[in-house]
Amino acid sequence: MPPQLLLLLLLLCYHGFLIAAAGEHSSPVRLELVRHPAPSGGSRLEHVQELFRSDRLRQRMIHDRIQRGRHRRRACDVSPPSKNGSSVPAPAADSFKMPLKSGAYSGTGQYFVRFLLGTPAQRFLLVMDTGSDLTWVKCRLRPPGCRGGGNGTRDFRSDVSSSFKPIPCSSDMCKTSLPFSLTTCPTPASPCAYDYGYSDGSTAQGVFANEKATIILSNGRRAKLRGLVVGCTSTSAGSSFSAADGVLGLGYSDISFAGRATARFKGRFSYCLVDHLSPRNASSFLTFGPNAAALPSPPPRETALVLDLEPFYTVGVDGISVDGELLAIPRIVWDVGAGGGAILDSGTSLTVLAEPAYRAVASALSRRLEGIPRVSVDPFDYCYNWTAAGGQRKLPRMVVHLAGSAALEPPAKSYVIDVADGVKCLGIAMAPWPGVSTIGNILQQEHMWEFDLKNRRLRFRRSRCRRE
Ligand SMILES: *[C@@H]1O[C@H](CO)[C@@H](O)[C@H](O)[C@H]1NC(C)=O
Ligand SMILES: *[C@@H]1O[C@H](CO)[C@@H](O)[C@H](O)[C@H]1NC(C)=O
Ligand SMILES: *[C@@H]1O[C@H](CO)[C@@H](O)[C@H](O)[C@H]1NC(C)=O
Ligand SMILES: *[C@@H]1O[C@H](CO)[C@@H](O)[C@H](O)[C@H]1NC(C)=O
Repeated sequence: MPPQLLLLLLLLCYHGFLIAAAGEHSSPVRLELVRHPAPSGGSRLEHVQELFRSDRLRQRMIHDRIQRGRHRRRACDVSPPSKNGSSVPAPAADSFKMPLKSGAYSGTGQYFVRFLLGTPAQRFLLVMDTGSDLTWVKCRLRPPGCRGGGNGTRDFRSDVSSSFKPIPCSSDMCKTSLPFSLTTCPTPASPCAYDYGYSDGSTAQGVFANEKATIILSNGRRAKLRGLVVGCTSTSAGSSFSAADGVLGLGYSDISFAGRATARFKGRFSYCLVDHLSPRNASSFLTFGPNAAALPSPPPRETALVLDLEPFYTVGVDGISVDGELLAIPRIVWDVGAGGGAILDSGTSLTVLAEPAYRAVASALSRRLEGIPRVSVDPFDYCYNWTAAGGQRKLPRMVVHLAGSAALEPPAKSYVIDVADGVKCLGIAMAPWPGVSTIGNILQQEHMWEFDLKNRRLRFRRSRCRRE
């Protein structure tokens, strides 16, 4: 092979952007759980320590994102998403769902959904992320024949998807609506590129495209969901997303998957998170549209979705109580305007409280556990030898009072967590003040959550999440 041709091929492999005209037929792929190849390894303690570490990095990412938003808002006063989505008519069924499960067995504190992307459909395991507006998949922009992949994750083959349509860098969409898009635009038709940088050094670079996903409707039929904005990540570095094929963006944004899917499915989505340490075959669903399982008695608790820190879901907090005692936490901690606020985030594991709230809660909980021998478990502040306690100590009852008398009463295992046999720790981490507090996925577990974006309401109720 002449060296010029070899060079050209190599260039195509790394920078090539070929879209093969594949057929429109979708192969018969069924939406069901598939074992993730990543090995678990490590002890429960190592797992929980890893959750703590990645939460810390995520908290910095959330902080940076909110700061960016504050600056941007001041600069040009971004209008809220129109929520009209594209003009595609809604399919006959009014909801669809995807299997959802804990990623603990692959060593992460995330929850994963099975997702079918492209035409014909290719299947992926994505991190369900309410804190992200972008949906992206690991992707190789390569012509057929160049090989990619690695570490058990899958690459999206954009070159064999007939519905993959790069968004041009000259478009208004690229210039104004897409997060983290770059201003570089070599030719008007060049794809709109992004560079997501996380403060832990993790990055994801790629290009934006319009794509279709395959969904399984409530009537059992398959349908294509069109007009999605999907990032095709060609380069990612860092550990943030190493166990998954990408991210399903459920943030409050016109371009997120949640924004697009709810625009066509009655303005709402819901999920139930199984216990994060459940066996790998335990699964539930992420549902778009009305979810019969979200409604029956007892009636769900309900609070307002504040939605003023896009793409995050902010909720009002009236206070936190421990065994009925309302703790003295300065109200400013829950005030978004004062640099505080509370968000519900599926991508954070532990509960993260801004310093004044952390001090009050940790002190109240630890006071009730006084007398139980402490053990030191890095990086937690409060850990106990539960074996020495003789197993008869009652766990304190913590309640988060959300605005509108909506009490979130998590099971005690969601905030006094088992980190090893006979060892429990307060599963709460401290964030600097000023800063947001985060209701992570462990505090959300074993509840059904319905995000009613249309009416700006958040509903929840206890549930074992048995295939709901
Ligand atoms: C959104 O949809 C409604 C009707 O469904 C229509 O009246 C309105 O003009 C649309 N808004 C935009 C911005 O397209
Ligand atoms: C696979 O994982 C290793 C270590 O975690 C990392 O150094 C390497 O870059 C990963 N490779 C790919 C293709 O993601
Ligand atoms: C999961 O697997 C366990 C055995 O490993 C079994 O007892 C249980 O019934 C399974 N649960 C489901 C929902 O399939
Ligand atoms: C907990 O206490 C028991 C005695 O009650 C002791 O045998 C065990 O080693 C202690 N565990 C830890 C982790 O300190």
